[in-house]
Amino acid sequence: MAEPVVVDAQYLKEIEKARRDLRALISNRNCAPIMLRLAWHDAGTYNAETKTGGATGSIRNEHELGHAANSGLKIAVNFCEEVKAKHPKITYADLYQLAGVVAVEVTGGPTIEFVPGRKDSLESPEEGRLPDAKKGAPHLKDIFYRMGLSDKDIVALSGAHTLGRAHPERSGFDGPWTKEPLKFDNSYFVELLKGESEGLLKLPTDKALLDDPAFRPYVELYAKDEDAFFRDYAASQKKLSELGFTPP
Ligand code: HEM
Repeated sequence: MAEPVVVDAQYLKEIEKARRDLRALISNRNCAPIMLRLAWHDAGTYNAETKTGGATGSIRNEHELGHAANSGLKIAVNFCEEVKAKHPKITYADLYQLAGVVAVEVTGGPTIEFVPGRKDSLESPEEGRLPDAKKGAPHLKDIFYRMGLSDKDIVALSGAHTLGRAHPERSGFDGPWTKEPLKFDNSYFVELLKGESEGLLKLPTDKALLDDPAFRPYVELYAKDEDAFFRDYAASQKKLSELGFTPP
């Protein structure tokens, strides 16, 4: 069983120090995209029915890190080790989610409320809980509803692809979604509505957001109203970051 986490004044102070260290590390190494992907892949295994998986830090487990969906994420785990070494009290589960929050913040995205206290676990869920980029809208719904998330969460969180790129040696896909992959803005939705464009990537699951009647209105809203995107995105990432964790 995981040890309970005591969030006292000292723990909160360490969180603030780790936040500063993460800001510096993420800016210096230009690694916001992969840090956000780490946070998402740790949390996104949650099953709301069985209450397994979620933001537990289990992705550091060699076995889980070896799941095909996690290809490349060892880099982000290792960056987080540098911060963990300086602040050993902080749980991995908190550290990974804090890294995701800081990644969005330092690239110009919304402020996401972070509540500490997640417990660590080394119990990894079975492979196959994360979405398959080659599939369509029904698959996205299956996966995200299992986590307890909604259609709106699916579209808002997909906007995280405003950051970063796909790497052929990791996922088999290639290229960034936007022209400025180190800037967090609503350009993912603007590009999605524009259609195919030279040098930019659209996964089948990205395109699925245009086809589904429950998804499309949010794509249109977020493309024309960045404030609406930032507001909904911040709320959805907070939910994602708390899967399997009940804040006190
Ligand atoms: C990258 C799939 C949702 C954040 C990727 C890549 C794939 C993918 C195939 C490329 C990996 C690589 O080759 O390096 C999907 C699918 C999703 C999804 C199918 C279902 C909706 C999300 C969510 C977030 C996210 C919810 C965060 C909230 C990222 C980021 C990158 C990325 C930041 C770039 C990583 C880098 O530049 O190294 N995603 N993703 N994705 N994903 Fe997603």
